[in-house]
Amino acid sequence: MVEAKELRRGVLASYSTADAVEQYTQRVAEGLRKYEKAAIDQFFPLSDKVLVVGCGAGREAFALEALGYKVKGIDISENLITAARSIANQRHSQVEFELTNGTNISEPDRTYDIVIFWSQILANVPTKEARQALLQEAFRILVAGGLASLTVHDRTRTLKLLEADSRYERINQQGLDDGDVILKEGGKDPVFWHYFDESEVQDLFVESGFHDSWILRVSELGESWDNVFIGFGRKP
Ligand SMILES: C[S@@+](CC[C@H](N)C(=O)[O-])C[C@H]1O[C@@H](n2cnc3c(N)ncnc32)[C@H](O)[C@@H]1O
Repeated sequence: MVEAKELRRGVLASYSTADAVEQYTQRVAEGLRKYEKAAIDQFFPLSDKVLVVGCGAGREAFALEALGYKVKGIDISENLITAARSIANQRHSQVEFELTNGTNISEPDRTYDIVIFWSQILANVPTKEARQALLQEAFRILVAGGLASLTVHDRTRTLKLLEADSRYERINQQGLDDGDVILKEGGKDPVFWHYFDESEVQDLFVESGFHDSWILRVSELGESWDNVFIGFGRKP
């Protein structure tokens, strides 16, 4: 039986390396993906307070600030938070960055208009209960009418792509849930991933209190590829 604690440790280690800092620092210049920009244009209210969970070095956070949002980013990787703060300094940005323990969100109740879990960050959170807890935290800190949004890999399509990709070795472990895999890429350490089906995403929202929720494929928001869902939930 693989322990969730062990899996979390592997995830944190993978986002703490010098390579990860370089990769996510470079990503900041890429700004928003096409589907992210389309999601903001269609569904986000203007100029409100946004929390970016799993902010890395700040790719979405800085882009949202440039669009007029007041933004805070949180992440489990101290090295990425340090990189994000240094980029914020260089840019004279007002975005705040904070280290999180990855299981709860230490923000007061009803203080954010939008909480995003983009870049498929829930894929790296072992156990359904822990993913659920994060969505419940988002619900708690959102104002009434506030919006949570997440992006996740579609299980069927992604597993098929991975099987055909020689960069990844899949390590079978006992005790993993449906949709869980452990992947080893090149010389790197193995990392936990979870891939979702659509009903699971719907359940995540409903079981966290979001009555009004909807899911799109990124191709419906202009992307040419299609193995990611983007979900939205509105707090009543
Ligand atoms: C794929 S990276 C995306 C980083 C950034 N959003 C971007 O697009 O450049 C996922 C990020 O989520 C963070 N992360 C993983 N689990 C987390 C958790 N439970 N809470 C907060 N951040 C987490 C990782 O440290 C990593 O920075």
